[in-house]
Amino acid sequence: MADPTLNLARHVSLRQLQVFATIARLKSFTKAADELYLTQPTVSTQIKRLTEAIGLPLFEQIGRQVYLTEVGCELEAAVKEIFGVLDRFEMKIADLKGLKRGYLRLCVITTAKYFAPEVLGRFCQRHQGVDVALKVTNRDTLIERLLANKDDLYILGQNPDRDLEMVTRPFAPNPLYVVAHRDHPLACERQIPLAHLADEYFIMREPGSGIRDYVLKTFTERGFKPRVRMELGSNEAIRHAIYGQLGLSVLSLHTLAQEPEPSPLVILDVQGFPLERQWYIAHAKGKELSVVAQAFIDFLGEESIQLRQQLEDTRIRLSRRHEAVRTERVSGD
Ligand code: PGA
Repeated sequence: MADPTLNLARHVSLRQLQVFATIARLKSFTKAADELYLTQPTVSTQIKRLTEAIGLPLFEQIGRQVYLTEVGCELEAAVKEIFGVLDRFEMKIADLKGLKRGYLRLCVITTAKYFAPEVLGRFCQRHQGVDVALKVTNRDTLIERLLANKDDLYILGQNPDRDLEMVTRPFAPNPLYVVAHRDHPLACERQIPLAHLADEYFIMREPGSGIRDYVLKTFTERGFKPRVRMELGSNEAIRHAIYGQLGLSVLSLHTLAQEPEPSPLVILDVQGFPLERQWYIAHAKGKELSVVAQAFIDFLGEESIQLRQQLEDTRIRLSRRHEAVRTERVSGD
């Protein structure tokens, strides 16, 4: 007989416990074998091994009747608990697979706030049992959060230059335009060379902003040094600074989607613009994606058509307005 102090986890299988529980319920080895589609010798072997592992008899046979010993009764209670826990676990997994429940932590870069909450809303409508947390922050903080594994997924405007172990997938365009007040003298010009903006004041996003990094890098590559008049921590503040004719800025087209009609802003027709960028959905390499996170990535694929359409509508609206400004100017001259 085996040492009763041995580690049950190493010597007892779930299958043996299932056979035991079935015999205990049906009070018969033969009926248990039938129910489990096993042969009777197999059932007997499983119970023999289980009895050896536990070190005390589990059943006693009196006449043709099978009874549980005291240890058998204890084991029956324990097995009910074990299978109860496993049953509940199976149900949870089934819910998660069917996306009946779940939690998604999404962290997005500042400018993605123009579409991410709506996209999340539509995702939650489709999967009503899913709860979400949305964090909006700038690029530096987003990367810190990614390194600390704080969220499931991230939306950002470009692959980081830093040597980060990330998996990224583009899902929608994120074009950047030079934006000015409609009364700006260059508002009527076409194909403006970048060098012609050398005397203009620029309003930049704060250090840590993805757009700022990208714009400054692109300007440097093109040999252009902008005159930065001020740095502001939000796209809205920049829009208002342009309303106040404090300078030009380079903004994502998403920023202009909610512009009132008529708007005091126009897009300048500068050579080399728009800067064609993409939105990326990202996660740390090696991260085990939850079922919900994977479903959200797939959902973004579906949403990208709508996002493209929204951007195209904004672009058409703004270029119509730009034409109207040109026409007004020409007829006013
Ligand atoms: P930002 O980043 O909102 O931090 O500027 C957006 C982007 O990189 O496009």
